[in-house]
Amino acid sequence: MKTTDQINTAARKIAAARHSVALTGAGISVESGIPPFRGKGGLWEKIDPMKYAHIQYFLADPADVWRVLLKEMKTLLKTATPNAGHMGLARLEQMGLLKTIITQNIDGLHQRAGNTDVIEFHGNFADYYCIDCRLRQKFDDIDLRSLPPRCACGGVIRPDCVFFGETIPVNLLLRSREIASCCDLMLVVGTSAVVQPAAFMPAIAKDHGALVIEINPEPTPLTHTVSDILIQGKAGAVMTALIAELERLRS
Ligand code: APR
Repeated sequence: MKTTDQINTAARKIAAARHSVALTGAGISVESGIPPFRGKGGLWEKIDPMKYAHIQYFLADPADVWRVLLKEMKTLLKTATPNAGHMGLARLEQMGLLKTIITQNIDGLHQRAGNTDVIEFHGNFADYYCIDCRLRQKFDDIDLRSLPPRCACGGVIRPDCVFFGETIPVNLLLRSREIASCCDLMLVVGTSAVVQPAAFMPAIAKDHGALVIEINPEPTPLTHTVSDILIQGKAGAVMTALIAELERLRS
């Protein structure tokens, strides 16, 4: 099926759905200048995630993790702004056609685009806390002249995101599973669908009768097993075309 036909079909399905949700990954933020983790130009091609994104190494050598991973990530996120992919999902919510986004991203761009119900499955890079006294701090208040940054109590400061080796906050996991099991349409945008339990959400949705629509330039493990439609393309262009078709259907 041609992409335009797929987009027209997807638009009709979204317009008719009772409860649509989205699962997003790093791919939706690529057009905002934030590299993906895997694939061409991916962050994990340069940095070993099982070292620098693992909680055990962070606790063993927090200065090295701050130097190699966290400072670069924060610089990237500081300049990133929502792109057409994020704006398209925000417009869907404004149209009453999208209730919740479950995102694996830590960049806060869905909220900045205007979505109001965003489950940050892997936390976010906006908030930080001391691993000793748990005092919460905003990034701009953290002194990076010496690494690792430390709290007034002397404890190491860490981002409020989920490292490998840590569990997803139980409340977020349970709510996400609940939402996946009661939606009737799930948009899966910009994820390689290889990291669990996030990548299991489309399968839960499918098991409960939902239609699963993937938006990704390339197939993923979901494509021939769970997804009903793969619209092969970049999130910005596909979301823009989807919204245009939905606006046309409404006029
Ligand atoms: N539009 C849509 N999708 C895109 C675009 C784009 N412009 N560019 C790339 N993609 C797709 C890639 O084809 C790939 O399938 O986005 C996906 C990015 O995959 P990953 O980099 O693996 O990101 P993600 O799926 O979010 O990773 C999951 O792994 O390392 C952990 O915590 C990290 O949350 C992350 C998790």
